[in-house]
Order: sequence, then C-alpha cells, then structure tokens
Amino acid sequence: MSHKFYVTTPIYYVNDAPHIGHAYTTILADVLSRFHRALGDDVFFLTGLDEHGQKVQQAAEKRGLSPKQHCDELAPRFLDLWKKLGISNDDFVRTTEARHIRVVQDILQKVYDNGDIYQHEYEGLYSVAEERFITEKEAESGQFREIKRLKEKNWFFRMGKYQERLIRHIEDHPGFIRPESRRNEMLGFLRQPLGDLCISRPKSRLAWGIEIPFDRDYVTYVWFDALINYISAPGYLADDAKFRRWWPATAHLIGKDILTTHSVYWTTMLFSLGLPLPECIFAHGWWLMGDSKMSKSLGNVVKPLDLIEQHGVDAVRYYLMAEMILGADASFTPENFIKRYNSDLANDFGNLLNRVSGLIAKNHGGVIPPAGEATAAEEEIAAAGRTLGAKVEALVRDFKVDQALNEIMNLIRAVNKYMEAQAPWKLAKTDLAAAGRVLYTATEALRLSAVLLSAVMPEKTAVVLDILGAKGSGLQWGELKAGTALPTFPPLFPRIEVEKQ
Ligand code: MSP
Repeated sequence: MSHKFYVTTPIYYVNDAPHIGHAYTTILADVLSRFHRALGDDVFFLTGLDEHGQKVQQAAEKRGLSPKQHCDELAPRFLDLWKKLGISNDDFVRTTEARHIRVVQDILQKVYDNGDIYQHEYEGLYSVAEERFITEKEAESGQFREIKRLKEKNWFFRMGKYQERLIRHIEDHPGFIRPESRRNEMLGFLRQPLGDLCISRPKSRLAWGIEIPFDRDYVTYVWFDALINYISAPGYLADDAKFRRWWPATAHLIGKDILTTHSVYWTTMLFSLGLPLPECIFAHGWWLMGDSKMSKSLGNVVKPLDLIEQHGVDAVRYYLMAEMILGADASFTPENFIKRYNSDLANDFGNLLNRVSGLIAKNHGGVIPPAGEATAAEEEIAAAGRTLGAKVEALVRDFKVDQALNEIMNLIRAVNKYMEAQAPWKLAKTDLAAAGRVLYTATEALRLSAVLLSAVMPEKTAVVLDILGAKGSGLQWGELKAGTALPTFPPLFPRIEVEKQ
C-alpha cells in the first residue's frame, strides 16, 4: 500500500559553515526519501535555512552588507553541498522568503487573536555584550560583561497552558518522540511546571527578524519563526489542497540538542493553531570527533566536502548511514572511515563484483550463465535474498537505516562465504554448469543488494546495475537475466591503502 511520507531536516543556520552534523541529517532524510519513493510512497522532502537573528545581523554588519545580501551570499554553501551529496529534496525553504514571512505573520496574528499571546514586562539582569538576559548565577560567574538591570516589555506565548495536553499526547503516542530515551527525557522535563515562552525581541535590540503584525516595534523570536517553516513550505494558509496533502509531517529529523524546541515549543504552537502534531520527532545523536565534541575552537570540524573529494560521495553517504546507530552518538575518525570503507565497500561488496565478473569473463565467455537447478547451497542464498527486501523495508520504515544496511551486508558476506565454499574457479574445470550456477546466484545477490543500496549509494549502484544489465530491476529473486554480456569496468571501490593516507 502506498503511504504519504513528509520528512524534514532542521533548517540550518545560514551563518554556519556546513559540517558533518548537517550533512548527516540531510543524508538521512535523503536516504529515507529515496527508499520511500522506491516503495511507491508519495514523498515530500523539505530542508532549508534559518536566516534571521542576532548572529546573522552582526556578521552582516561586520562585512558591511545588508543581512539579506549576507544570507544570499552564504546560502549557496549549503545548496552546493546538497547538490554534491546528491540530496533529492523537493523544496528548500529560507526564512527570509516572502512566502514564509507572510505565514509567520498570519500565525502570530491568529495566535494573538485567539488569546494565546500577551504582553508582559520583564525585569532582569542583562548583558549588553552578550545581548541577552542572564541569570543571577551567570552574572556571578564573571563571564559576562556590561551587566545592567533592564526592564523590558515583551510578548509571550501561553505555552504553559498546553502542558497537560502535551504530556497526554506523548503518553498516548509511543512513537511520537523517538528514540524512547528521548521520549523519557521529554516526559521528565515536562514534570516541572512549563512556563510561557517569550516570543519577541524589541527592534531596538534586534532588527533582523520578522516584524510582529500587531506591534511594529518588535520582531519575533527566531525559534517561533524557524519552526513554522515545516508548515509554511507545504502551503499553510496559502495553498489548502497542498497543505492537506502533506500535513501532518511523517517525521521531523533533528539532533538531540534541539529536542525541546521541537517537542515542546513547536507542538504547543500547533495546539494553539488547532493543527495536528507531526507523527514523529526523531532525534539522532551527535557526531563526535574521536572522543571529543566537534567545535570550531578545537579545530576539529569535519568538512563534508573534504571527505567527498577524498573518497567519493557514495562512500561518505554509506559511512555516515552505517556508522551511526539509531539514536546514539557516533565517533568519527579518519581511521574508522577507512576501516569501514575497506571492509564493507572495497572487500565485501566491490571485491565480490570483481570476482564474479572476472570468473564470468574467464570461464563463461563474459556472459551471465544460467541459474540452473538450485542445490541446498543456492537455496540458502535465494531464501535470504527473497526475504531481504521485506526486512529492509520494515527497518527503513522504522528509521533503522544502520540495521537495514547491516542486513544487506550480511547477504553479501554470506555470498562471499558461499563463493569460498563452492569455489566456482575450481568447479569450472569439472562441471561448468555447476560453476555457472554459483556465479549466477552470487551475481543475482549482488544485483538485489545494489537495488536495495541504491537509496544510500545512488551513483555506484547505478553503475553496478548498468554493468549487470539490470537497470530498473526490482526486489524479486531471480530478475537477473542470464545471457547478459558483462562489460569490463574499473574497480568500484578501490581499496584505500593506509600508508598513503
Ligand atoms: N536553526 C536551528 C534549527 C531550526 S529547525 C526549525 C539549528 N541549526 S543548526 O545549524 O545549529 O543545527 C542544525 C542541526 O545540526 C541540529 O539538528 C543539530 O543537532 C545538528 N548538529 C550540529 N552539530 C552536530 C554534530 N556534531 N553531530 C550531529 N548533529 C549535529 O539548530
């Protein structure tokens, strides 16, 4: 049955240089989208940029540009990277676009009209240097400069009023916040009283934001603006039919650090608007650099472009998907990148392709031999092949891409063992038909694996399927056509020699 699949990534701060964390979420969304499209689902994949706020304003001022010019100059860093990474998003939203701004303002008005926004005067300690209110404790820490007591009027969203309803929703929908550890974390957080959310900044402090329609001296807080992208892009308050087609989202993919903004701010905003909540908020872990956090000051920020240049797009996509276990942190080191590349892609997958095609060229005239009569050994491989598609589908529908990849690689590893045991290079001397049967079975497993891997490695698998004359083939065991002539080709995943690195 075909389903709707609307998936989002966070919209990234335009000011930041894209790094491996941004690339991971975007590739994950892309892989899920490609899988779902292949399954016949109706897919809408959204990503984009978060372009308002103080940091953008300051960076633009420093460069002597208007904030909008600054954003326009920086946006291509992300757009170009997504192109290089083969990202197949259906839309790209920028919070400075008119279509988004209009919706944010309409929403502010709507929420104000329904009584969920009110004005309140706040008095507290304010650090002029940091441009934010700080706590007494922070003031005592000595880390903040130019502290003064400030009284400021601001607009607040009645978030607290939805606390009980939100708790009930999370309790009634076990798959709403995933993985489970994050769900528990949020339920724990919601045990404390939930306050209201300050959603404005006076223009005197911050000009670069979306103006509040009922008070032109203020702009809206960046999160209130940014979260709305998930509904402004699919046409909320602009294109009813489109919006009804896509909303609620199937999954918001996010990093664990922005879990509260999504599962508390965003959901209560949706409650206030009378809109259904997304089906799932999925928070993945962090990429650590070895054992430490990635940070500019540590100088250990991994640039996805460098990796692509060194190892190719598909290897990077594969590595990121295979290495991060659902929901947990993962550690990146050049060594484990090379290790996984060499073991999974160069040895297990690439080498198998070389071996079978080499043997077919040598002993079978370069033409895929007939499947022949299966013996127990072939039956075992075929049985694994016949169930693999459904297994992978179930895992991917459950966001378990790492496990799905492991299942596919298990088949490849089983075929490598089968090749060793059957030794078709020896068999060819005594029983050519039997050798052919082994090679057909191994090649068919490669074909099937390539079809299943194509969401993760679209380029390389297209090459494999082309070599095997199996472009457009599906998940049935036995679709490989005997009699197909195999061309010669360069190694798919040349081994990375560690000495050279
Ligand atoms: N602009 C907000 C999101 C608004 S969504 C309505 C934002 N942007 S961000 O560019 O700072 O971060 C975007 C995402 O990158 C977050 O999901 C964050 O978790 C992720 N990552 C940042 N560093 C990361 C790693 N080291 N590893 C994995 N993901 C990390 O927050």
